[in-house]
Amino acid sequence: MERGKISSCSFLFFSLLLTTFCASVRATAQDPITMRQILPVYAIMENIDLLNSSRCRTEIEEFRNAVDERVTWGLRAMDTSGVPPRGFLYGNNLWLGDQKGCYMLSENTTLPLSEKTRKNNSIYRNPNEEFPPFQLRFFVGRMWHNSTVQYHIETENENMITLGLCLPASCSKRDVATMLDKVFHDETLLIGKLFSTGFKLIEVNDLVNDRQWLLSAKMISIIGFLLLLVAIAIAATLYDLFVYRRAKEHRKKEFLTFENNNTSELKSEAEEKCDTDHEEPVLSESKQQSRLFQYLLCFSLASNIQQIFHRENSEDNTRMFHGLKFLGMVWIITAHSVFYSLHTISNKVVLYTITDTMPAQILSNATYSVDTYFFISGFLLTHIFLKQREKDKRIPSITARTSQLIRMLVKRYVRITPAYFIVILIVILNFSWHDRVSLVLPLEQPSSKCSKYWWTNILYINNFYNWDELCLTWSWYLPNDMQFFIFGSILLMLSVTHYNIALGIGCVTLLSSIGSSLYTAYTLDYQPSLDEQYRTLTYLYVRPWIRIQPYLIGMITCQLLSKWNYEVNLSKRSLIIGSTLAILCNSVILFCTVIRDMPLSISVPYIGLSRAGWAMGIAWLIVTCATNHAGMVRKFLSLNFFVPLSRLTYCAYLINPILILSLNSIRVYPFIADEIVIGALSLAMVICTFILSILISAVGEVPFILLLRLYNNPQGRKK
Ligand SMILES: *[C@@H]1O[C@H](CO)[C@@H](O)[C@H](O)[C@H]1NC(C)=O
Ligand SMILES: *[C@@H]1O[C@H](CO)[C@@H](O)[C@H](O)[C@H]1NC(C)=O
Ligand SMILES: *[C@@H]1O[C@H](CO)[C@@H](O)[C@H](O)[C@H]1NC(C)=O
Ligand SMILES: *[C@@H]1O[C@H](CO)[C@@H](O)[C@H](O)[C@H]1NC(C)=O
Repeated sequence: MERGKISSCSFLFFSLLLTTFCASVRATAQDPITMRQILPVYAIMENIDLLNSSRCRTEIEEFRNAVDERVTWGLRAMDTSGVPPRGFLYGNNLWLGDQKGCYMLSENTTLPLSEKTRKNNSIYRNPNEEFPPFQLRFFVGRMWHNSTVQYHIETENENMITLGLCLPASCSKRDVATMLDKVFHDETLLIGKLFSTGFKLIEVNDLVNDRQWLLSAKMISIIGFLLLLVAIAIAATLYDLFVYRRAKEHRKKEFLTFENNNTSELKSEAEEKCDTDHEEPVLSESKQQSRLFQYLLCFSLASNIQQIFHRENSEDNTRMFHGLKFLGMVWIITAHSVFYSLHTISNKVVLYTITDTMPAQILSNATYSVDTYFFISGFLLTHIFLKQREKDKRIPSITARTSQLIRMLVKRYVRITPAYFIVILIVILNFSWHDRVSLVLPLEQPSSKCSKYWWTNILYINNFYNWDELCLTWSWYLPNDMQFFIFGSILLMLSVTHYNIALGIGCVTLLSSIGSSLYTAYTLDYQPSLDEQYRTLTYLYVRPWIRIQPYLIGMITCQLLSKWNYEVNLSKRSLIIGSTLAILCNSVILFCTVIRDMPLSISVPYIGLSRAGWAMGIAWLIVTCATNHAGMVRKFLSLNFFVPLSRLTYCAYLINPILILSLNSIRVYPFIADEIVIGALSLAMVICTFILSILISAVGEVPFILLLRLYNNPQGRKK
């Protein structure tokens, strides 16, 4: 079939052949028509007539003659340019070529083999012809194709083709763009004819980092800010290690009861007072220690990392959340490893077919782990509130409650925002660099979106925007959590005096949330599948009124538990029945999406009820754990091992997609994914994420928690 196609094309291209005849007359036993149809770079080189720059023109001419005459360097250079690879129909649009090979050739790099072998290898080659007589540069052309035969999985920019081209360095982006555009205009490429595809050039980039972009005011201020922070951290660490610790060698170390989740760090004022009660009397030197040094010490990496890894042996009712949070984060990172890599996977359509299997539902439904987080958040908010109520028997006035609410809000804001802000700055810096030097652009253009919308993140309102406007798409969780926190706190404050009204509002909100997700799923004509999940992200995934259900269920669970005083007598039978039901409920929610093409009458109730149902299952787990019925499960989830990891989950959550996106943009080769590659990638990402989050947490999170402490409790620094 290909042969027939080519011969008919030769007729088609006869006129074109005539025009380029002079150029190809030197070709001896060549077949320039086939060459230009199969090799985009060859097709480009035939359009030098359009160029103004004489140097680029002569060098390309030289290059093409070298190819025509089979000179080694010409063949080598051509061989590093991208060609349409196998798998176009299954969505392989990465015609990347070999960027490293091109630079290797341009720099006259020889293979690191013994001289004997090297000589023997090139026995049939002329050693003087191995390297090009001019510098080469790797260009990347991005273009849209409009083939209707390619299969799509309905993600972003699926029709974008990335083509790598190794051409003389004297050519400009514009030169290459002009030539490439002509190739598309003339419909030269065989692949275009074979799959009835037209191409439209988007841009040509030379991947040269000229560093000019660093000189803009925005970048300078970002770099300045980050450097300042690093400098403070280093200075604080040095001061801590060499001055403060020496002086305090004899002093017993004390640790914060520092919990690094989004909610339980909101320790109430009363608790903090309490904490300070059993603090050592402040030493006389530290009284003289200037305030500045106390503030500085908050940034000491050494002690902050110690804080993170500090063991805490309290037998608390909420200890199992450590394990739950860490495992939830592993689950999320695994799903992100696939989701944020899709644009660099060359067999993504084939990969998608594995989502047909039962175990793969764990990956495609990883969003339920977020509901676990909402549940935990709601639970802990209530837990802390009730603990404080126990201590404080009198009923505070409305104004006292309002001011307490505002204080809590400010504290929470100060605790979680700095790390978030630092991460956004890093993202703008890092991805602006990627935009210039990366062969494959990162998904979702984080640099431009964050430059534009960062303030919506900082104000915690970005969940009201559309998915494709989000700076850091995964950050939709934070505004939701913040808004639920405010709503939940108001309910709790209300419940002090009007318990039934608060309960009523909570229940009505829960029911109307379920109702609105039913309605939204119905109007969006939702069917549980990955593409539908992707299509409906804006309205079914990030909106607070859809997502509040697990949070409220968490709050109610905690209320019930505390009403029962964390003691419930469950008979063995009811424990077994309850656990079976809970496991069954969550398994059905997790695995039933394996059924394809659910009718609307099932899929709408599924979407409407699944998040609440999932939270009910988790609620059962928490109730059995907290009331000491869960045995092994409780022991496992409360392992000491999970404590520091759970403290790191906030930073891990912030940075894991950045790491994945960044890693994918550094690569210059596409990757072919299968279960093993994905498993290995996820594991690597989990490990790297948590290691990096130690640093982010120690620089951007712990110091601000400590500063808040210091501010609330100025007499002494707790360590
Ligand atoms: C060199 O190559 C020839 C044939 O390609 C082979 O027979 C010979 O063993 C090689 N010699 C060395 C030293 O590798
Ligand atoms: C590489 O080799 C070619 C010819 O052998 C020479 O013209 C060119 O200057 C060399 N380039 C470098 C970077 O050494
Ligand atoms: C060559 O010059 C002409 C006229 O100055 C201009 O229109 C054209 O865009 C230039 N082509 C390239 C590739 O720079
Ligand atoms: C694709 O683009 C080409 C050229 O731009 C055009 O001729 C063709 O009609 C388009 N095909 C479809 C299916 O849109």
